Amino acid sequence: MSSLEEPLGLGVGDLPRLSVSRLGGFSSSSSSSPRGAARYTGASYNGGSPQCRRAAADASCAAAELRDLPRKVMWDLPRFVKIVEVGPRDGLQNEKASVPASVKIHLIHKLVAAGLSAIEATSFVSPKWVPQLADAKEVLRGIQQAPGVRYPVLTPNLRGFEAAVAAGAREIAVFASASESFSRSNINCTIEESLARYRGVTAAAKKHGLSIRGYVSCVIGCPVEGAIHPSKVAYVAKELYNMGCSEISLGDTIGVGTPGSVAAMLEAVMTFVPKDKIAVHFHDTYGQALANILVSLQMGINIVDSSVSGLGGCPYAKGATGNVASEDVVYMLHGLGIDTNVDLNKLMEAGDYISNHLGRPLGSKTATALRKLTN
Ligand code: HMG
Ligand code: MG
Repeated sequence: MSSLEEPLGLGVGDLPRLSVSRLGGFSSSSSSSPRGAARYTGASYNGGSPQCRRAAADASCAAAELRDLPRKVMWDLPRFVKIVEVGPRDGLQNEKASVPASVKIHLIHKLVAAGLSAIEATSFVSPKWVPQLADAKEVLRGIQQAPGVRYPVLTPNLRGFEAAVAAGAREIAVFASASESFSRSNINCTIEESLARYRGVTAAAKKHGLSIRGYVSCVIGCPVEGAIHPSKVAYVAKELYNMGCSEISLGDTIGVGTPGSVAAMLEAVMTFVPKDKIAVHFHDTYGQALANILVSLQMGINIVDSSVSGLGGCPYAKGATGNVASEDVVYMLHGLGIDTNVDLNKLMEAGDYISNHLGRPLGSKTATALRKLTN
């Protein structure tokens, strides 16, 4: 095993030690002062000349500032992030070739073996709209549900909800949009109509004791309407939260967000939904997903949706590419010293499996780089 299989980064426990030794060394060598080298050697300046005392004071200010740097940058990052793996649903819903139910089931088992504790298994939607997931019942029934693992499934209406319950679902997800145009093209109704429908679905789910996830799509931009105002996202998120969704996943469906637009959107949603109930869901069309995740973590989010090997896209959002790859998210999080309970090697095996089946190259940069090292 190459040492590069471990992410190069800071363990949380390492931060104070690194800040003293490495940063001290850095500032010493970068100092233009001839006395700079003596500043960080631990030498005592007590009783020295006035110049020495002044240099010591300057030095300790500089060292204190530098010591604070990692904390300023890494401020308030969570120690644990829960990854919600959406590849079997969001990924495979967008495949042209139909993937057999047995392959979907095997993929889900591999993802569980990698340590993922929340895997979106399928959707109970109209097979006329999404033929790729017409085997939802077979897939959900075929999974050997592991204890402690959640397998949410998408349900657009009561009909889908009843079919999901009959197939053994214990968690469902409803999906609304912050864009009126996308709501119509994705679920054939207005935002208000969808919210009314979901009130019925969530009431039924609560009666059955099921957990409910709520999605808001187009939280940054819409393929038809362009930019979406954060207040629209906040409104839909609030409605879903108030009707009983215990987790609100904010979807940048077409992947146009940047850390700037994402921060503004999150700030608006956090007015109504507690930050520990918010998940972020980034498609990586513009290559901004990891940066967007980092800014979300800095704002207190600790639930991230991603898709093994970057599978995905929405059939009703033209041009939208896959979700951020789970392997890349895990690599970044581990590099930040954040725990995920996910084994990167086993996750890459799941990515190899589905990519081989689909006959396409890996969609994760991390997996591609590491496979080059080991093959
Ligand atoms: P509709 O055509 O308006 O509804 O579809 P309908 O009630 O007139 O039904 C049409 C036909 O579908 C009928 O069949 C119904 O029985 C059947 P027919 O009489 O013509 O033979 N039907 C169903 N069949 C199975 N299961 C059901 C169901 N409901 C109706 N649950 C509907 C409305 C919502 C059903 C449809 O628009 C639909 O299924 N849309 C799903 C679209 C979808 O799955 N999009 C992708 C998921 S969202 C996403 O990817 C975004 C996300 O990842 C976050 C992000 O990235 O932003 C979550
Ligand atoms: Mg999506």
